Amino acid sequence: MTIKQSFTAGDIQVFLISNLAELLKVSTDEIDIKEHLENYGLDSAQAMILISKLEKLLGFQPSPLLLWHYPNIEALSQRLSEEVQEDSPIQKTGVTSSNANAAPSVLDLSAEAVLDPTIHPGAASNLPVGEPKNIFLTGGTGFLGAFVIRELLQQTNADIYCLVRAANAEEGKSKLQKNLQQYAILQEEFNSRIIPIVGDLSQPLLGVGSEQFQFLAANIDTIYHSGALLNYVFPYSALKAANVLGTQEVLRLACQIKVKPVHYVSSVAVFESTAYAGKVVKEQDEFNHWEGIYLGYSQTKWVAEKLVKIARDRGLPVTIHRPPLISGDSKTGICNTHDFINLMTKGCLQMGYFPDVDYMLDMSPVDYVSKAIVYLSRQKESIGKAFNLQHPQPAALKMLVEWIRSFGYSIEMIPYQKWQAELINNVSSVDNPLYTLRPFLLERWSDEQVTIPDLYLQARRPHISCEDTLIALADSSIVCPPIDSQLFMTYTAYLIQSGFLNIA
Ligand SMILES: NC(=O)c1ccc[n+]([C@@H]2O[C@H](COP(=O)([O-])OP(=O)(O)OC[C@H]3O[C@@H](n4cnc5c(N)ncnc54)[C@H](OP(=O)(O)O)[C@@H]3O)[C@@H](O)[C@H]2O)c1
Repeated sequence: MTIKQSFTAGDIQVFLISNLAELLKVSTDEIDIKEHLENYGLDSAQAMILISKLEKLLGFQPSPLLLWHYPNIEALSQRLSEEVQEDSPIQKTGVTSSNANAAPSVLDLSAEAVLDPTIHPGAASNLPVGEPKNIFLTGGTGFLGAFVIRELLQQTNADIYCLVRAANAEEGKSKLQKNLQQYAILQEEFNSRIIPIVGDLSQPLLGVGSEQFQFLAANIDTIYHSGALLNYVFPYSALKAANVLGTQEVLRLACQIKVKPVHYVSSVAVFESTAYAGKVVKEQDEFNHWEGIYLGYSQTKWVAEKLVKIARDRGLPVTIHRPPLISGDSKTGICNTHDFINLMTKGCLQMGYFPDVDYMLDMSPVDYVSKAIVYLSRQKESIGKAFNLQHPQPAALKMLVEWIRSFGYSIEMIPYQKWQAELINNVSSVDNPLYTLRPFLLERWSDEQVTIPDLYLQARRPHISCEDTLIALADSSIVCPPIDSQLFMTYTAYLIQSGFLNIA
């Protein structure tokens, strides 16, 4: 138990200004107490540093979600000062029941799924025919986007116009190249076919300006939309601009001047509603349930796919691709070391404990996912359809722990609640990657007071069928590599060799 200290809103405001400025390496004059906190672009680690500083000041840990639910420093300081003025001590658990930590009011996702009525493909007579000459791709500086670029370069002769956040085209190109290099898939001979388009998904007209937007609208033949902000801590409000409004802008581009098919990278997270627990969900099933989707990121994916489907119903040719967690390249093991499984594995190794939970490893290797997306997007029969890129034979999480042990790592499986207590009491700095995931792992939501990991327990998960997807892939040579000891050997070897898994 920790007794709260007494601070006024003014004290907290001054504290937040100085610490935020320090984190962002800017002067305190540049921090505006009325500016939306999400506009400062804090990542999960920075948010947790700010929260742990607040905890030291106030004597209790406020929920990191407050940083996004309170619009600005002024409002947040006011709320926290009211919290410290209440008499009763609160538990310092990170899973508090204080008012300031109350779960945000329920967001009606179906009300969010409204597509600008001016986005309409019009008459379908100008549908593109033949091979695309110019492809527009978002997310090309990301993990999946890099492998989709590789596939598109190999499977088509098109130039790939890549939306990229950068100061200028030169920096954009170098960002794209570095990303391909990082995943060991940069092919110099194709370099001239990668064309950077400086912009931002969260801005109107993708932040490219109306002239460039018109140019793209007139010249692009097909669109691959893989870009999104992936963050397990941010609420819907902080992710909406990039993930939902960004998708709307992509659909706008697809409908202007000439019709361009959109191949959209969604996620199996669209089936995260508790209404689907234990049920079989198939590729073409409608998913109208959103109740019980608590993660802001999953909420944005649900709404964004709905927008894509509304556009489809207005006549836009689309294909929808829903990966589960995307794991490393099955041949080289190269992966995004900052994905959930890798951070969790490293963090648990540092702790010495893994939670004993009934989870399945819902993951598919990135080479499978990217090849499937590009192949399926190029089949006429795919138009209007969704595909579940779920692994056909997922493995149990317990297998992962056994494979890790076989590499000589010492790790114990302990009951989930005991593991949570370890996380609360012994993971107290950003040196352990689980620290920044604490809000994701510990926050309790809704009347049920469940944590996000509770929602992923096998009993609460739907059975995501990929039967139709496998049928659609049957004429190709694309097969999802099995999740077995060989795959784990490849992955672990890369993680060790890259230095990521060197646990002292
Ligand atoms: N990874 C998974 O396990 C997984 C699972 C299911 C579905 N998905 C979906 O797959 C897609 C790709 O995921 P990923 O793993 O490749 O993610 P990633 O590595 O984090 O890449 C995200 C990409 O989106 C770009 N992006 C983010 N915000 C942007 C903005 N405001 N404007 C322009 N570009 C922006 C990023 O650009 P910067 O380089 O500038 O940040 C980056 O290129 C996403 O749609 C994701 O929802 C991923």
